[in-house]
Amino acid sequence: MDFKQKVAEIFTSLDDEITIDEAIQMIEVPPNSDMGDYAVPCFKFSKKYRKAPAMIAKDLSEKIGQVEGFEKVENAGPYVNFFVDKKHFAEKILKQAYAEKDKFGSTNVGEGKTVIVEFSSPNIAKPFHIGHIRSTLIGNSIHKIYTYMGYNTVAINHLGDYGTQFGMLISAYKKWGTPEIVEAIEKDPIPELLKLYVRYNQEIETHPEYQEEARYWFKELENGNEEAHKLWSWFREVSLKEFNRVYEMFGIKYDSLAGESFYSDKMADVISELEDKQLLKDSEGAKIVELSEYGLTDALIQKSDGSTLYVTRDIAAAMYRKKTYDFYKNIYVVGAPQKLHFDQWRKIIELMGYEWADDCVHVMFGTVSLEDGALATRKGRVVFLEDVLKKAIEKTTEIISDRNPDIDNREEVAKQVGIGAVIFQELFNNRIKDYMFSWDKTLSFEGETGPYVQYSYARTCSLLKRADIEIDDDVDFSVLTDKEAFNVIKKLEGFKAAVLGSHDKYEPFFITRYVVSLAQEFNRFYHECPIIVEDANVKKARLLLTQTVNTVIKTALGLLGMDAPEKM
Ligand code: ARG
Repeated sequence: MDFKQKVAEIFTSLDDEITIDEAIQMIEVPPNSDMGDYAVPCFKFSKKYRKAPAMIAKDLSEKIGQVEGFEKVENAGPYVNFFVDKKHFAEKILKQAYAEKDKFGSTNVGEGKTVIVEFSSPNIAKPFHIGHIRSTLIGNSIHKIYTYMGYNTVAINHLGDYGTQFGMLISAYKKWGTPEIVEAIEKDPIPELLKLYVRYNQEIETHPEYQEEARYWFKELENGNEEAHKLWSWFREVSLKEFNRVYEMFGIKYDSLAGESFYSDKMADVISELEDKQLLKDSEGAKIVELSEYGLTDALIQKSDGSTLYVTRDIAAAMYRKKTYDFYKNIYVVGAPQKLHFDQWRKIIELMGYEWADDCVHVMFGTVSLEDGALATRKGRVVFLEDVLKKAIEKTTEIISDRNPDIDNREEVAKQVGIGAVIFQELFNNRIKDYMFSWDKTLSFEGETGPYVQYSYARTCSLLKRADIEIDDDVDFSVLTDKEAFNVIKKLEGFKAAVLGSHDKYEPFFITRYVVSLAQEFNRFYHECPIIVEDANVKKARLLLTQTVNTVIKTALGLLGMDAPEKM
């Protein structure tokens, strides 16, 4: 039985103007279980009954009387409060969790549907900046959540591996690419390539012809010139090697690395389609789509020299994805500064007559500011995320060594906890909110942090190990009706809603907040209710609860992209 559903059904049977969905939306979960486990405010009915809500609530609660699965139904002020039968509730939730194991939080909403999650998408030969970090971590979690919900998912890294800047790099390399520079690039690609790029831009000021040369080389690249292509693929390859180290640390794998360059041969079709659909206007030799009547600035599609732009490549990419994957949703995890770009792009696709424009979602996020020096890093040392992670691991190693000096696999655990702490912090807030990164907050074993949750998980592991008995769902559920156990079970019941909320709103933070509160409830239970006790009945029931919490924490951390070490 679904308790909330049951409450909703009671209300629809009392009033045939209310649908089940409306009833479900009316139901509140009081902050404190003294006010019931579910509460229905009766303001909504006052029109129909022409009575004060408190009177209606009183009448209704008397009418409802005794309900199976509920201890009592009571009226307080304008509310009808439902108190679940705790034993029944414990049995229902824990048996379900026991049967569903790590699928307990999932539904089948995704069955038969394909969802694309595009995330990270750094630019070749350029730093992996904080926006890419956020995209990587938020996107990885969204990808996992959608996979968990049964979708067929495609993880895409839309690499920024094309555009005029590659003309500059090629031209710069042809001018200054000595064997020493080649060696330096092989060794530390991104800072070295960045140096070339920066120098080229500086020298344009005194050598205006460099601008023209860069344009020439990008055109050559677009035209398939062998030399240009060879250099470009080398830049791409050495940069990717750097990025891959970061993805490896997070355990991220992509299904596709089709970046901007992948669409270079698909651009002509896009332009002629726009032309055919009479969407292109000439503007001093360039081609634009006018968007002012939609409250947007016009979009430049092709420059006067014939080269294409970022937005052109994004139109080609969306069309290719629709054709190749027939997506149900096409999700782009990219920072808020690109909102205008995605608004223009979606509008153009819509104007082209594609209804699936609405299925393309820009999942944006705010910025992170850095606590003084928190992420300070060697200047120009650009895959600095790696420095952050290394520092997190180092700091965690110290903390773990203090807390648990004889832990076996210290390095592995420090890695899982250090990296996990950074991920957890990143996914702790509403993604659009800007936040301040703080080492102390991130790595603390107390409070609402990754290490705290992982530590709670390790606690459940050690309890289960110490108990060393076979656990099944044939237990005396009346053992689990005390306040502490009941609160844990109520939290467990909320797992599905947290995952579904994250799914609906593309917001991993529902799961982050959820799993902290589950860990807190469990720790309260652990302190109040000894688990490994003489009484076999009590022990078995409490261990079943412990095991359920263990599975749910592990599943939730997995959805955030975090590991769950068994000891720490
Ligand atoms: N490479 C871009 C940047 O770093 C992000 C790409 C976002 N994805 C897209 N399909 N436009 O700014």
